Amino acid sequence: METKVKSRVLLVDRDPDIIASVSSLLAKEDYFVTSCSNAHEAAARISEESFDVVLADVQMPDISVMELLENIHKQSTQLPVILLTEVPDFNVALEAIRGRAFDLVVKPFNFEFLLQAVKRAVQHSTFIKLKDDYSHSLKNMVMEKTRELGNIRQQREDISKDLVGCLITVTEFQDNEAKIHGKRVGAFSELIALSMGMPMEFVRKLKISSQLHDIGKISIKDEILLKPGSLTSDEFEIVKTHTTEGKKLLTGSSHPVLMMAESIALSHHEKWNGTGYPEGLKSDDIPMEGRIVTIVDQYDVIRTQKTYKPALRHEEAVRIMTRGNERTSPEHFDPKILNAFIKISPKLDAIYNSFKGLS
Ligand SMILES: [Fe+2]
Ligand SMILES: [Fe+2]
Repeated sequence: METKVKSRVLLVDRDPDIIASVSSLLAKEDYFVTSCSNAHEAAARISEESFDVVLADVQMPDISVMELLENIHKQSTQLPVILLTEVPDFNVALEAIRGRAFDLVVKPFNFEFLLQAVKRAVQHSTFIKLKDDYSHSLKNMVMEKTRELGNIRQQREDISKDLVGCLITVTEFQDNEAKIHGKRVGAFSELIALSMGMPMEFVRKLKISSQLHDIGKISIKDEILLKPGSLTSDEFEIVKTHTTEGKKLLTGSSHPVLMMAESIALSHHEKWNGTGYPEGLKSDDIPMEGRIVTIVDQYDVIRTQKTYKPALRHEEAVRIMTRGNERTSPEHFDPKILNAFIKISPKLDAIYNSFKGLS
């Protein structure tokens, strides 16, 4: 059988007759009453026990109304206090309001009125406690969920790093330089995105996924990929399919990193002026991640020795990117990303140099 918890009332009054009559009245209404005769004792009781409402005499000799209320609220800020007064005095009422009293009841009591005041105060107290409990459990729940989400995100990032690491290793079987190229493109992309103030979630995904931009090359034969000298136009058409092949390899995942990797694999040879491949997309139609990788990929290619060209110094690479040559034009790049590239280009040079000797 469920036992009803009685509401607890602290009654403070210097008059023993008032204590006796009010205690008896409240006990009959199923309240648990604790009484005391002065403010000092009342403060001690409130610090030791939990009450739902305080009924306090305002004409106590040793304390003013304001001090009484202050002392009670110091112990328990939300505890409702009903003041009991013999004199319906304007100043007492004013002080009661200023001191955040819950109600003011004039003696001799209309008991019905007093009971209604106590009932309202107890309801208020219950509501405050429920609200506090709810806020507390809500706060705990939010903290718990945030912790869980943090763990899940960390696990997902660990998985994605492992997964991408495996995929990059696959490309390494074909060409170790391709792996180092992928790592440099990851580092460059991260730096450009950071300097453009992109959201951290985007930057994190871009750093990992951009390393897979050329993964489609694993479906192209070595004799074309590693052919010394220039490619025929037919061979170049085959090389261009590494974008669509890369998309095919990465497609169908719901993992955010792999979804971005798929987008980059397909779009990293699109050009801002629409002269790129495979779809000839223009300007904002090219996804942001693809536009960033286009620029850093091109920088890395210019810096690196290929079978058909020598390695070039950083300054020369920046000059080509910003002024153009027979292969490259600044119109290939999103102007905002090109600006970010120019601003941070010394850092890109430092990153490029830090990878030397690894290939
Ligand atoms: Fe590529
Ligand atoms: Fe590339």
